[in-house]
Amino acid sequence: MSDSYLNLWLLSLILALPIILLFRRKQPKLNLPPGQMGWPLVGQTIGYLRPHPATTIGEFMEQHIARYGKIFKSSLFGEPAIVSADAELNKFIFNNEGKLFECSYPKSIGGILGKWSMLVVVGDMHRDMRAIALNFMSNAMLRTTMLKDVERHALLVLNSWKQDFKFSAQEEAKKFTFNLMVKNILSLEPETPEAEALKKAYATFMKGVVSAPLNLPGTAYRKALQSRFTILKFIERKMEERNQNIKGGDKGLDDDLLSWVLKNSNLTSEQVLDLILSLLFAGHETSSVAISLALYFLPACPRAVQQLREEHREIARAKREAGDVELTWDDYRRMEFTHWVVNETLRLGNVVRFLHRKAIKDIRYKGYDIPRGWKVLPVLAAVHLDPSNFDHPQLFDPWRWQNNGSRGGSTGTSNNFMPFGGGGRYCAGSELAKLEIAIFIHHLILNCEWQLAEQDQAFVYPFVDFPKGLPITVQRLSLI
Ligand code: HEM
Repeated sequence: MSDSYLNLWLLSLILALPIILLFRRKQPKLNLPPGQMGWPLVGQTIGYLRPHPATTIGEFMEQHIARYGKIFKSSLFGEPAIVSADAELNKFIFNNEGKLFECSYPKSIGGILGKWSMLVVVGDMHRDMRAIALNFMSNAMLRTTMLKDVERHALLVLNSWKQDFKFSAQEEAKKFTFNLMVKNILSLEPETPEAEALKKAYATFMKGVVSAPLNLPGTAYRKALQSRFTILKFIERKMEERNQNIKGGDKGLDDDLLSWVLKNSNLTSEQVLDLILSLLFAGHETSSVAISLALYFLPACPRAVQQLREEHREIARAKREAGDVELTWDDYRRMEFTHWVVNETLRLGNVVRFLHRKAIKDIRYKGYDIPRGWKVLPVLAAVHLDPSNFDHPQLFDPWRWQNNGSRGGSTGTSNNFMPFGGGGRYCAGSELAKLEIAIFIHHLILNCEWQLAEQDQAFVYPFVDFPKGLPITVQRLSLI
């Protein structure tokens, strides 16, 4: 560097110095929550995602909460992050969706679920898609079409179970929820060649969703991207068929989601494809895990099995006397203890562990600063397994939901129960999920005795999964 350049550089530095100092003085010092940022780039992601039993919050969360409290800072998924195990902050996040916080899933999730996936989109597009999903799973739909379908598909799976034969309960639960979703979304009947081909492509797709996002030859992620393409081609063909039918004035296939969306929304084909795929994903994986968890928890609590049997025998007896065959909405409403079992399964098993958000404004909460652009992770599982929210949280205790959860915890309310998230992104399928679990339990408990055929345990990968698929054997009952 020549002398004249050096002088010029020094002069600019001297002139800029007061401005730099003034700017630094004006920047208020941030009071970030305590915590560590870990290694460059990876941060603490590896520790945070380390597999652990689903009924625990894992070592990472345990150690961090013990050291820093329920709100701490970290660096996760390549970004600075605030992690919240605090029920109040989680509610604050949900209630300020779109105002202070926004959904922000890692790019790899968008890459595989699609950029128009409901779990990824924000703003007006999210509002429009949410309206479609809510309409699809409205109360009226649940009481009429869906209740019948849920019962039919539950019986189809349960009636195929062979006495004393070892099989994967998780696979069976997946079969049930998959068949139900593809029937309601695409009018596909179970075990038809089309449904089977879609199920096969979907299984490969799912392996990629839960794998490391490495788009290299032979990886699960690459295979999943290929399966995504196969699934989208399949849905596209269905869309073309429907459009032809609609043009031809055919009203026959009005009642599945695909026809409804094509007739009643202005979404582009690409958006419809991603919406359908995201509903299939959101509606199939979650409730099948919840059913598997119920099958896993119940044998360890014979008193709950007994009480369930009494409740469902009573419903079945009343129906027989009235000459009814199919379950009605009133029958479902009478399944009070079953509802406690469903709540307790969701609380202890935590199907969805945590959610991805980011701060879209600078936020101050309980004296801490949450800077704009930082990731914010409300950890639902940490609230559900916190002894200050739920007495003896590790215990499977359906009776804690008596009197609307008044035994939920030392705060005396079930306010801290958030398995379906909250606010503007509250699970659109929560009522369908509860219906599926309860109806499945109804026919299971009346017709079968089951036990675990091999030791297995639900693990968080971070998706909840049983490493051996939850092997069970069943004996048929004739209780009714
Ligand atoms: C036990 C079963 C289920 C659990 C625990 C569950 C949990 C959740 C959670 C926590 C969210 C919030 C995601 C976020 O805020 O980022 C969510 C969203 C969603 N869920 Fe579920 N879910 C279940 C079953 C279902 C079912 C059966 C469907 C049916 C299609 C469904 C459809 C959806 C949809 C469409 C959304 C996105 C809502 C929105 O962004 O507005 N879910 N679910």
